[in-house]
Amino acid sequence: MVGRLENKVAAVTGAGSGMGRSIALRFAREGARVAVMDVNLGAAATTVEKIHADGGEATAIAVNIAAADTVEAARAAVIAAYGRVDVLVNNAGIHDGFPTLAETTEELWDRVISVDLKGVFLMTQRFAADLRARGGSIVNVSSGAGFRAGGGGIAYTAAKHGIVGVTRATAAELR
Ligand SMILES: NC(=O)c1ccc[n+]([C@@H]2O[C@H](COP(=O)([O-])OP(=O)(O)OC[C@H]3O[C@@H](n4cnc5c(N)ncnc54)[C@H](O)[C@@H]3O)[C@@H](O)[C@H]2O)c1
Repeated sequence: MVGRLENKVAAVTGAGSGMGRSIALRFAREGARVAVMDVNLGAAATTVEKIHADGGEATAIAVNIAAADTVEAARAAVIAAYGRVDVLVNNAGIHDGFPTLAETTEELWDRVISVDLKGVFLMTQRFAADLRARGGSIVNVSSGAGFRAGGGGIAYTAAKHGIVGVTRATAAELR
């Protein structure tokens, strides 16, 4: 395929469904080889099938972005498959269902912060050297909830605000 991402390798988290799948499909259509990363490997494989059917190139890679050991293994799998990475899209995230402050359990808080915020940190940290070597790019997916609050959803709102901070800190350090 010939497009704006020809000869680029892109790693997209949460690419087994929703926006991540759409990003992966579009990147492949623009010529990128795509590491389709998701905690749900079957869903990632379905995205890869769609990319192949569309004439693109992709590989499904399992990762739980909240767990450093699987992030390390996923990074190794991307490098083994494509030898480098030019673009990282930190898209994977979970929602807390917008409960009230009183309804937000400690377990829910920990789970949402782990996936939505720590996951972006771990992926960024573990891929930073590869991306710098290529002069690559990081795209972090926050939310409207990363800039404002509308009542409820304190864990999701805090995590998405945190992604804005991670993005600014990363940009300042790695530019
Ligand atoms: N859909 C919206 O309206 C909307 C609005 C604002 C922001 N966002 C953000 O966009 C991103 C994608 O949203 P979506 O609606 O497409 O979500 P989705 O639920 O359709 O897809 C999320 C994907 O992430 C994967 N995932 C979940 N936990 C993971 C983990 N620990 N490690 C790796 N993968 C994991 C899931 O398996 C799933 O395939 C999220 O970060 C979300 O917060 C979405």
